[in-house]
Amino acid sequence: MERDREKKKRTIIRNMANSTSPASYIYFVAISLFLGNLVLGAQARTVHYYDFVLREINVTRNCTITTILVVNDSFPGPTIRVQKGDLVYVKVHNQGLYGVTLHWHGVKQPRNPWSDGPEYITQCAIPPGTNFTYEVNLTEEEGTIWWHAHNEWTRSTVHGAIVVLPREGSSFPFPTADGEHVIVLGSWYNEGTSLNKALEMEMSIGSPNIPRATGYLINGQYGDFVPCSNETTPHFFVDYGKTYLLRIVSAVVGTEMFFSIADHNMTVVGMDGAYTKPIVVSYLMIEPGQTMDILVTTNQSPGRYYMAAQRFATEYLAFTKFSHVVATAIIQYKGNYSLTSPPSFPIDTLPFYHDYSAAASFTHQLRSLATEEYPVDVPYNVTTRMFITASLNSLPCPDDSCYMGDSKLAASLNNISWKDPSVDVLQAYYRNISGVYTADFPDFPPEMFNFTGDDLPSSLAEASVGTAVKVLNYNETVEIVFQGTNLLEGSEYHPMHMHGYSFYIVGLGSGNFNNETDPLAYNLVDPPKVNTFGVPRSGWVAIRFRADNPGVWFWHCHIDRHMSWGMDYVFIVKNGDTEETSMRPPPPYMPPCVASKKDKLFGEQDWNLKSDI
Ligand code: C2O
Ligand code: CU
Repeated sequence: MERDREKKKRTIIRNMANSTSPASYIYFVAISLFLGNLVLGAQARTVHYYDFVLREINVTRNCTITTILVVNDSFPGPTIRVQKGDLVYVKVHNQGLYGVTLHWHGVKQPRNPWSDGPEYITQCAIPPGTNFTYEVNLTEEEGTIWWHAHNEWTRSTVHGAIVVLPREGSSFPFPTADGEHVIVLGSWYNEGTSLNKALEMEMSIGSPNIPRATGYLINGQYGDFVPCSNETTPHFFVDYGKTYLLRIVSAVVGTEMFFSIADHNMTVVGMDGAYTKPIVVSYLMIEPGQTMDILVTTNQSPGRYYMAAQRFATEYLAFTKFSHVVATAIIQYKGNYSLTSPPSFPIDTLPFYHDYSAAASFTHQLRSLATEEYPVDVPYNVTTRMFITASLNSLPCPDDSCYMGDSKLAASLNNISWKDPSVDVLQAYYRNISGVYTADFPDFPPEMFNFTGDDLPSSLAEASVGTAVKVLNYNETVEIVFQGTNLLEGSEYHPMHMHGYSFYIVGLGSGNFNNETDPLAYNLVDPPKVNTFGVPRSGWVAIRFRADNPGVWFWHCHIDRHMSWGMDYVFIVKNGDTEETSMRPPPPYMPPCVASKKDKLFGEQDWNLKSDI
């Protein structure tokens, strides 16, 4: 029996990893208040309180000072550390110049989309000078997940890890590691705090030249291969003969990454906040939004070894304007030995930028743990079946005013390019406001064609624009096949992400999905359970889940370029018959929907709202 206890604890964590330059002197304060017996029932849950102060700071990367928006002066932001089933309140103080929202990526948030965060989907932006408190309600998640901003591309600098440890009295489904490290992969944009503005300008003329990352980062740093960076290359000091748990988060904004450690195998044991069957690999392919827990045993001769992350570039081969920079950090064995030689580099194991087969052979190995203690519950009978094409598209451009004259680039799902409403979908649904969205997202694309063929007619690439949502009854069992297309010769990976749920990957393949033969090979025994998974380039992925979380939930490609172009839609999951199967009412305060996106970005906003709060 759980004894009554009341324990208050304050933790002040000071992170001085970058103390070489005053600008990058980063620290954060996390105050956690633990209240043992708050929840009635068998399991006490701990309640944590965090303050997230968003503020612009100057940092130096690649010899240049840039202003970026960060949380608690830290880049990446603070790690939230909890146990399974805990409850977290995060009070977000927006001291930046623009509206922001935060999202808890991989947290199911049962019945409570009000705290989910995507702008124009479940809330409007938190105005500058105000605050908003999110309730992050952890239930089934265990392992590593993360949080990030969810308006425009603010997440490029506003993100951090969420570490979910096993409950008190339970343990990992693998031998407990001797130590652990959080590794956040990120991308760097030279635009700094003008990134969203630059994005808006390019989008408004339909230009394909929307901002591109200038490089990739490990824990906020480029590492040794970029000028002015080797003094800040992250070092992980390890003892010989131990096993370390690395919690890897891909906060990269626009691309898949390969990741490898020189001379060390990795054992993948978890992904997206769920445990996996252990797989031993020499590299990872990790997509934007995914998280992976890996074990590394330090059994090599004492020395220094690079961990390295580089782009897995799935755009057409002729596109070479991407950053080829390799991000690095160093694993350094403790002890007395000479450091004369440079660290070894994973030259044989880090796949090349376009190595599709390396990517596929990695993803095909992933399996759920599927044990008695960690069972899978993949639906066997499907009540709602959807087939959704993911495409790059073109839209007509009135008055020839676009970069490409009469057309502009877009992206779509089932040929509908998502358009943000001006009031969030959740509010419109809850308050019955009409004219905000249409409840007619189709279960099939308007036309069937050879989706992955070459030289597809450009007429097929023209999308329609809309704010179309799919409405599901409570507890429906859903199968979705996402089919990538090669329209505009634009087939590439699309890491599809769902809010409010994890889903099972029951099938995965290249080419066009065959609805007779492919389902015969579905894995209904131990499919991986994830919240983000790539539709392969010119391929398909089949997923299943049970619609047991009522609310309004965003689905989108986690490559922000595609998300901004419209590769998005929304599920509204209706209430069940009981209170316990119905959406919770809104909290007393939600940020008001006042300024249009354009006003916000071009500085004509009217944010004089402080008195309302
Ligand atoms: Cu990681 Cu909709 O987000
Ligand atoms: Cu995509």
